[in-house]
Amino acid sequence: MNPVVELRRDGEIAVLAVNSPPVNALSAQVREGIVEGIRQAGADASVKAVVLHCEGRTFFAGADISEFGKPPKQPMLPEVVDFIEASSKPVIAALHGTALGGGLETALACHYRVAVPSAKCGFPEVKLGLLPGAGGTQRLPRLVGPERAMEMVTSGSPISAKAAKEMGIVDELVDESDLLASAIAFARKVVAENRPLKKVRDLDDKIAAARGKPEIFDAFRKANARKFRGFQAPEYNVRCIEAAVNQPFDEGIRLERQLFQELVSGEQSAAQRHVFFAERQVWKIPDISDDTPTLPVKKVGVIGAGTMGGGISMNFANAGLPVTIVEAKPEALERGLGVIRRNYESTAKKGRMSMEDVERRMGLLTGSLKLEDLADCDLIIEAVFENMAIKKEIFSKLDAIAKPGAILASNTSYLNVNEIAAMTKRPEYVLGMHFFSPANIMRLLEVVRGEKTDKRVVATAMQLGRQIGKIAVLVGVCHGFVGNRMLEPRQREANRLILEGAMPWDVDRVLYEFGFPMGPFAMADLAGLDIGWSRETSKGETAREILCEQDRRGQKTGAGFYDYDENRNAKPSKLVEQIILDLSAKKGITRREISDQEILERCVYTMINEGAKILEEGIAIRSSDIDIVWINGYGWPVYRGGPMFYGEQVGLGKVLDRLRAYEAKFGADFKPAALLERLVAEGKGFRDL
Ligand code: 3HC
Repeated sequence: MNPVVELRRDGEIAVLAVNSPPVNALSAQVREGIVEGIRQAGADASVKAVVLHCEGRTFFAGADISEFGKPPKQPMLPEVVDFIEASSKPVIAALHGTALGGGLETALACHYRVAVPSAKCGFPEVKLGLLPGAGGTQRLPRLVGPERAMEMVTSGSPISAKAAKEMGIVDELVDESDLLASAIAFARKVVAENRPLKKVRDLDDKIAAARGKPEIFDAFRKANARKFRGFQAPEYNVRCIEAAVNQPFDEGIRLERQLFQELVSGEQSAAQRHVFFAERQVWKIPDISDDTPTLPVKKVGVIGAGTMGGGISMNFANAGLPVTIVEAKPEALERGLGVIRRNYESTAKKGRMSMEDVERRMGLLTGSLKLEDLADCDLIIEAVFENMAIKKEIFSKLDAIAKPGAILASNTSYLNVNEIAAMTKRPEYVLGMHFFSPANIMRLLEVVRGEKTDKRVVATAMQLGRQIGKIAVLVGVCHGFVGNRMLEPRQREANRLILEGAMPWDVDRVLYEFGFPMGPFAMADLAGLDIGWSRETSKGETAREILCEQDRRGQKTGAGFYDYDENRNAKPSKLVEQIILDLSAKKGITRREISDQEILERCVYTMINEGAKILEEGIAIRSSDIDIVWINGYGWPVYRGGPMFYGEQVGLGKVLDRLRAYEAKFGADFKPAALLERLVAEGKGFRDL
């Protein structure tokens, strides 16, 4: 007997019941059980129809991702779905929870589908760098037409059961309270009415109109070119849908299988699968068990109504928590609250929020000019100017004001949280909560654990991160934590490269082509070159300082490293080129030709090296946490899996060799981390730690 799949009977209806927690992924054992169950039901003359039903929280959530990249186990999913479709008796899929990927493909191979209204279905494969590889790309367009099919497979977003019913994916919506009974009743109806074995593979009406019309697919590619840039899987998905329209079913399946194989054995999917598991790992903290009690947080205080403070406050208001925002001056407070309101209103204008929602959220925000008004807050986040003396003063005041048991957090992006905590008599309640700008949008939150932070406080901050929709990564105290610390070597090298021979647009192009949304110089122009710069203290020693002195302060002044037109399109600047040439000459640097490869290695391998030091020092728990920081906070391309994963894909041995070569040429900044040396010597990777 198969331990996870059981064949039961309800009169003339057989129920193939699957129970493989947590999400009924279609593991080898499940696949075997399904085939065996269908075989048995087929052989039993008293069975008239089969209901395929999953127990627990969901219908199959897809293929078992952990099997990818390993030797295949029979029977493979495409064979399983063909076997179901070929059944001589009607098979009815009963959908609840999330019928995703291979799960939905299994359902599409059944002859009928019923679903509870709360169910969702979709093809998230693209998010794993894949395409639906068990007939999904061929069956879906036959049910919903190519346009909707392309949208579903390339976005990866699930749709509601109601939408699925309207589109024709689901035949009937059934009572939420007893799916199995409803599915059995539906099966009886199919039998009683002697309904045909409806095979999706035989449908043609939804695809016929698009046949021989490549313009439909090209228009879709063009409209999504920006979104798909760098990714292999979206284009492969589109090709399969195009084949579904233009070729016989079996031909389309052949192409689907071939492209699926190519993707699943490729680097991008390996990277995206790594990210899938990394995003789930990140919440697990070795010395803090899941059942660690958290502290109740019902009211939040935020100090500072600037860009960061405002964005942070919005997160909590969005989650329904009241927030008191404290500012020093009434004008600043008013300005800050005004910006928040405008942000919400612009979301409402785009139709993504109602005006009532805007008012409800604004109603949760209270402005104040007195720190004393934070006395009843359970969590207080300081988001003032990045200056240690100011932060220390605030924390020592907060210590006197905040109620016992309140958590005191700093949004510092670089500073020593232990020093800040030492200003209070409750360092165990102090930690860092480092949000990324714009804080209401960026998914990353670095939770900075001080040396004395209590485990319950850490657990509470992580759980709050989840509650407000962030991906929270626990990090230790050091200058810049994980993200900004690794940004420093990249920035340093970018600045050196332009003095040695490259131009800002060369460096930017290489990193853009690597997959970052923009390069460091375009980024600096966007942020404003004058952050932290003042005319009085400017020494005119770096390109940035010289540009600021000439009032080229980035996009906001229409010029920075680049020239900008009225639509903010960047163009390389002759003037900047001359400034850089002059600066190189002034510093006595003989400029030389610099290859794209050198740009990439010096910017990226130094990051990997810094990441290795971070691991060595225990600042990050695991290398995949570092990857999550860079993907969610700094635009690292998800199809390259994060810097540490990328380092392993390149080969740590190669990274080490190149670092050594650069060390010999340029000195100690390239000195390989001891951990990297050790791992290479032992033939291991970061993931083995
Ligand atoms: N394979 C293997 N493990 C899976 C899995 C899958 N398809 N889906 C989820 N899991 C695991 C998770 O890793 C997690 O394990 P952990 O507890 O050890 O960390 C556990 O199941 C629970 O998952 P979540 O924490 O994500 O639970 P949620 O309730 O938040 O979400 C879910 C449930 C919506 C089903 C979500 O897990 C999900 O989106 N899963 C992936 C779905 C997917 O991508 N399916 C397509 C797979 S590819 C495919 O089908 C190829 C085919 O076309 C041939």
